[in-house]
Amino acid sequence: MKLAIQKLRKSFGHQVVLDDVSLSLEKVHTLALIGPSGGGKSTLLRVIAGLERPDQGEVWLNDSQIVFQEKLLRGHRRTVGTVFQTFNLFPHLTAFANVTLPLEKVHEYTPQNARESATEILERFQLMEHAHKQPAQLSGGQRQRIAIARAVAIKPKLLLFDEPTSALDPEMTGEVLDLIEELREEGRDFVLVTHQMGFAHRVADQIAILSQGRIVECGPPLQVLDQPKEEVTKQFLSRILKY
Ligand SMILES: Nc1ncnc2c1ncn2[C@@H]1O[C@H](COP(=O)(O)OP(=O)(O)O)[C@@H](O)[C@H]1O
Ligand SMILES: [Mg+2]
Repeated sequence: MKLAIQKLRKSFGHQVVLDDVSLSLEKVHTLALIGPSGGGKSTLLRVIAGLERPDQGEVWLNDSQIVFQEKLLRGHRRTVGTVFQTFNLFPHLTAFANVTLPLEKVHEYTPQNARESATEILERFQLMEHAHKQPAQLSGGQRQRIAIARAVAIKPKLLLFDEPTSALDPEMTGEVLDLIEELREEGRDFVLVTHQMGFAHRVADQIAILSQGRIVECGPPLQVLDQPKEEVTKQFLSRILKY
């Protein structure tokens, strides 16, 4: 994808959360957003997803501008697949219905086409054996894999993942990261917020460090993670890698 963000500003009340964020990436498959808690990562992701409106600034995705007007945003939201840290699935529905519901209700699939697509994707992710279960009957890792399957099922042009493993045990983290890596190898485009530095290093082609609403540094992992230039980045990395 090509991603251009120009002077993006967003405040909540008096608090400036995105402070003139600019970023221009000609060609990127996986952009990892990294940085201290409260730095604005989720807000930036939600703006790109069309779930949050900026006060100022522009976002361009593959040369088309995201227009932050409700009617047009609805169309944009349909083209991105989102996965958050927790609470991704409808608790009263089976895993299968969690995948088919948006296909039918948002993407206007017939029930039969929705079932076929859900079956195909769950089979591909080896999740069919869990299809009849409700989220409470699944492990955290399985729940996130279902959430990812649901995000992929809509054939999005972009996947937006916000700390998809931070509520998981290490063992389950692995199974979710493996799935993300598989999707990455399929050539899908991602913007991913993560605290898993090893993973970010392996899968991201660009890393943006976001701190206090500003992008302090952006570049390939070998540069930003291994040879950070900015003090903020150095401090953040040493804090996160300490334990
Ligand atoms: N809907 C909201 N209303 C008010 N403040 C918010 C809202 N969303 C985020 N914030 C604030 O914006 C700041 C950045 O939050 P966030 O984007 O979630 O950062 P990060 O994901 O990097 O931890 C935080 O101080 C947070 O409390
Ligand atoms: Mg966040």
